[in-house]
Amino acid sequence: MQPVSVPALPQGYNLRRVGKEDFQDKNLFKTLSILTTVGDIPEPKFHALIEYWNDRKEIYNPMVITNAENVIIATGMLFVEHKLIHGGGKVGHIEDISVNPSEQGKKLGLIMIRNLIQIAQTEGCYKVILDCDEKNVRFYEKCGMKIEGVEMGYRF
Ligand code: ACO
Repeated sequence: MQPVSVPALPQGYNLRRVGKEDFQDKNLFKTLSILTTVGDIPEPKFHALIEYWNDRKEIYNPMVITNAENVIIATGMLFVEHKLIHGGGKVGHIEDISVNPSEQGKKLGLIMIRNLIQIAQTEGCYKVILDCDEKNVRFYEKCGMKIEGVEMGYRF
């Protein structure tokens, strides 16, 4: 199997897991709000969610990129589904990709995706999938992904 190639981040930028300390400056919430509504998350609820994710590190990989000022400017989640089929195989699901508009166009989205795919490969996933808008198809193709099906939904 070919290892996934991951371009380097710009000088001073870092990739890391989301932590409880990220509640304080709200930059995680600001970056996610570019993608969708974040809603009201009180600090205890945020901390409980981080603990839930950290207790299940084999499933939840909530990642952020920080810039040279140590500000969160990109987000991404790899969720690893443990399946019965394919001999108890694993499927990686990419979720919640968002790059702050002031940092878009610097390959940070692509670097986030390639890192999440690399985590999925390391975790032994046999594929990685995601749902996205038509307008983002070209971006994901540039990250090395291909259209493989149709997204369906049922909203509550
Ligand atoms: N359409 C076509 N090409 C694109 C697009 C687009 N919408 N966005 C980026 N690209 C291209 C870039 O031009 C670049 O091409 P190049 O290698 O030829 O120069 C390549 O894709 C990589 O681009 P990046 O610089 O890595 O993209 P960026 O960091 O700006 O992030 C992203 C792209 C994540 C789509 C960003 O614009 C964003 O956050 N948008 C708003 C939130 C969003 O829609 N997120 C995706 C949700 S889907 C999900 O979460 C599974």
